[in-house]
Amino acid sequence: MNKSIFRKKSVSKLLEDLASGDSEHQQGGKLNKVLRTKDLTFMGIAAVIGAGIFSTIGVASYNGGPGVTILFVITAITCGFSALCYAEFASRIPVSGSAYTYAYASFGELIAWIIGWDLLMEYAIGNIAVAISWSKYFTNLMEGFHIHIPGFLTMDYLSAYRGSEALQKLKTGSAAIDQNTKLAAAAWTSAPQIGSLKLIADVPALLIVFIITWLVYVGIKETKKATNAMVMLKIAVVLGVIVLGFFYVTPANWHPFLPNGFAGVMKGVSGVFFAYIGFDAISTTAEECENPQRDLPRGMIYSLIICTVLYILIALVLTGMVNYKELQVEDPLAFVFARIGLKNISYVISISAVIATASVLLIFQMGQPRIWMSMSRDGLLPKAFSRIHPKYQTPSFATVVTGFVVAVPALFLNLTEVTDLTSIGTLFAFVLVCGGVLLLPKDEEIPEAGSHKKFKIPYVNSKFIVPVLFLIGLVVFWKPFIALFHYTGDQDKLPYFLFIGLSAIITVLAFIKNLSLIPVLGLVSCFYLMTELGYTNWLRFLIWLVIGLVIYFTYSYRHSKLNAAS
Ligand code: ALA
Repeated sequence: MNKSIFRKKSVSKLLEDLASGDSEHQQGGKLNKVLRTKDLTFMGIAAVIGAGIFSTIGVASYNGGPGVTILFVITAITCGFSALCYAEFASRIPVSGSAYTYAYASFGELIAWIIGWDLLMEYAIGNIAVAISWSKYFTNLMEGFHIHIPGFLTMDYLSAYRGSEALQKLKTGSAAIDQNTKLAAAAWTSAPQIGSLKLIADVPALLIVFIITWLVYVGIKETKKATNAMVMLKIAVVLGVIVLGFFYVTPANWHPFLPNGFAGVMKGVSGVFFAYIGFDAISTTAEECENPQRDLPRGMIYSLIICTVLYILIALVLTGMVNYKELQVEDPLAFVFARIGLKNISYVISISAVIATASVLLIFQMGQPRIWMSMSRDGLLPKAFSRIHPKYQTPSFATVVTGFVVAVPALFLNLTEVTDLTSIGTLFAFVLVCGGVLLLPKDEEIPEAGSHKKFKIPYVNSKFIVPVLFLIGLVVFWKPFIALFHYTGDQDKLPYFLFIGLSAIITVLAFIKNLSLIPVLGLVSCFYLMTELGYTNWLRFLIWLVIGLVIYFTYSYRHSKLNAAS
């Protein structure tokens, strides 16, 4: 058992399956190979720039002040390490399943299952967050056209309930009642009821997911065209915000740069990291690329670089235009322009936010079925998930299931909780991808490996660098380190202990095994960002993993193709 749950699918077997497997694995038809570097870069940007920069960055800036820019830099570096690891994997194993397939090759089946299950958090749960955010911008936009959609049709149950509770409390105190609380409470009171059950649901979120799912269902070419058009528009708008906003910056707003210290900045990890998620999603299209080994690494790295530059500039402009204390809003980019009296600009931003977030939905809605398709080919999910539509050449059944899995919860779930889950799940995927690169067999051990020009992470020996960095970390952070050991029952400290333990182990391994520096830094930095997400998110994440393990041991383990082979 022990051996079989860690059975690996070798890189050469993966490539063999890909070469011979069109008829065997893909039920009904073949995928269409139409994507090139430019399309992949566009898809990367399409997946990255969305709800994060248009929405979650608001609260992150409120907590961190202008110093949130530092978080954008830290997160970009962390994602950069991971992007390089993804790029090496995508180049070595150009198969649709992204991190799932990479884990199958490096860690074996159980971890591959875990990562496949975990990616559901990035793509499907992430898309729930994006759909909810889309709905917010859409509803605001409709208000601009004087079309009012009742609050109980545009909100989740929990937000409305919390709003009503908060209002009751605030009425008895002297604190001011903000607009969001008022709207949520109004949705709660005006909602129709069946018995004592209030009928409150986010209907626009459901509708947009169905529309996008249909687009993804009818074809990769159509998806590509729609993506390219949307990306052009959103880059233009983001650049417009930067250039125009620059003229309205008041440098005094950048002082103090860290009003709530470094801890305040780190409160924004989930929101800022969420803004970067997506460059990795294009690795799910490996089988639809003309030359995946050359183009996928380029697509991922180019899209990440472009988004990083735009994000850092946006963060500076945003926190320079108004005082950071005003930024606790769900539509910060539109808000700052409305705040300085440029209502029309704010309006244009809202329209583009609706388009930008729709394009993120599109890419994630496309990625999820392709991961399921790979898992189904390996026997870990039922066969129907790898069925390819004979006419549209897309994984049809998996696409429809994705539509329901995203649309229905989007009716009821709350944005903050869903964003946090997405960020922790995705960071975990990054940790495993970075770790997986360290375990990949050398080129000469894979017969097919020599036949293509591939991307490789430059090797820098971490033998001394990582131990030195570990010691520097201990010296610089000795105060919080000592404080950790004065355990006061604060559960949020627990993930830090895990982080210290993991860093110590990696340091020893780096020294003994001369590990490659970039994947090691990627692994440690992603794990650190996970640590910052707090105990509750860890707990939810672990519950999610346990549910996944139950499914693995009751279905996937027995149906795995490697099981039949052994
Ligand atoms: N990065 C994507 C967004 O911000 C998930 O919407």
